[in-house]
Amino acid sequence: MRLLIDEAAVQTGAPITPASAQFDPFAPDYVADPYAKLRTLRESEPIFYSPELSAWVVTRHETVRNVIRDVARFSSSIVSDPLRPMCPNARKVLQDAAFNVPPLLVNNDPPDHSRVRRFMGTPFQIPRLNALEPFTRETVGLHLDRMMAGPQPADLVKGLTWDVPALVLFKLIGIPASDVDRVKGWAESRVALTSGRPSDDEQVRLARGAAEFYQYSLALVEDKLRHPTDDYTSDLIRLRDGDDAKASLNEIAGHVFNLLFAGHETTSSAAANTFLALLQNREQWQRLCAGEIKASQVAEEGLRFEPPVQARRRLVKQDVELEGHKIPAGSKLFIMVASANRDPQRFEEPDQFCPGRPDVQQHLSFGAGIHLCMGAPLARQELSVMLDEVSRRMPGLRMVPDQALLYTPNTSFRGLRKLLVSW
Ligand code: HEM
Repeated sequence: MRLLIDEAAVQTGAPITPASAQFDPFAPDYVADPYAKLRTLRESEPIFYSPELSAWVVTRHETVRNVIRDVARFSSSIVSDPLRPMCPNARKVLQDAAFNVPPLLVNNDPPDHSRVRRFMGTPFQIPRLNALEPFTRETVGLHLDRMMAGPQPADLVKGLTWDVPALVLFKLIGIPASDVDRVKGWAESRVALTSGRPSDDEQVRLARGAAEFYQYSLALVEDKLRHPTDDYTSDLIRLRDGDDAKASLNEIAGHVFNLLFAGHETTSSAAANTFLALLQNREQWQRLCAGEIKASQVAEEGLRFEPPVQARRRLVKQDVELEGHKIPAGSKLFIMVASANRDPQRFEEPDQFCPGRPDVQQHLSFGAGIHLCMGAPLARQELSVMLDEVSRRMPGLRMVPDQALLYTPNTSFRGLRKLLVSW
């Protein structure tokens, strides 16, 4: 996460077209339903320049996929930069806190990305992830017990989907469950800082949160160095074996800092978005409860239909031509996964929620190529367990009609904040 960067604003000479003015990811109608607007844009101007984002917006599946995979021409270095450059007071907060998270995975390029991915990926393997499954199931069960013992209607986000991915990730990383609320709060601040439009005062507050979050990650790694346990962080420290050439302790702390954001907020959002899609398409819910479709198929279609990570950023390394547009080196791209996943040239009836569609794996919700999400197997496991257990224990689940559906306005992440249900 590069927070201390100075970014130039609007690219000079970039064409301003009708789509440039129409696209505002913070507009209430876009936040309510980004897909309708993206459909119109994809049909009229599949690539356009957005002065709002100082970036070219790319909407077609084929082009989005090609850009993500082409690490020679498109760099990931800007992926986690704040959309709005930090104001001087916020920068000072970070400098005073010696905030220093180096590029590691998501915002790194080869060859260094390859070293870090090899190192961090070695202990992040299927056996460690599979070993978490019973814990995930038990945690889901306890949350459902609590919810079902309480009044109806209840909020499924608060009662289940918000906590579970954080608790599972904490178990993996080796963090006490009592810290869930603190870390969740920091992760939300990070979304606002990097993908929102915070005022200067908000930036200062959010920067304080980022600094605290970073110090927390450093302290965790130091603690695991002294008292290793059976968790992923301790695995990394053992694998490092005191050798900074493999990975420094600050890199491990930076990775933990990143995971404590990437590894639960996304899965929480995916779960909430998928339950909403299911309950809005009741026949699919009934098919799941009747065992006609598998939880894993529902999870995969949920990821395609309402991706929690809606957009990624890339920096153009050399002059390129994309769909006839000449885009100079140094330009930024906003690649719209949310649009790619609904592209009719890739998916039949893309606006229908159809678990079991044969080509669902073509969705780009976990990215593609060398940056393919490292946590995808874990996220899939958690989503399947949640869907399995809720459909087994609450087959009568219904959403409260006419409730307001709330999403936090930002450019890149989409997660339903509340889902009132009865059962
Ligand atoms: C439904 C849940 C999730 C979604 C939708 C998601 C999405 C993504 C996407 C789109 C990328 C690629 C970013 C890019 O190309 O710029 C990514 C990368 C990554 N994700 Fe996830 N993620 C999820 C869950 C997780 C979990 C549970 C973890 C770990 C516990 C995780 C860890 C990572 C890491 C470490 C990377 C960087 C990989 C690299 O650059 O080599 N993610 N994720």
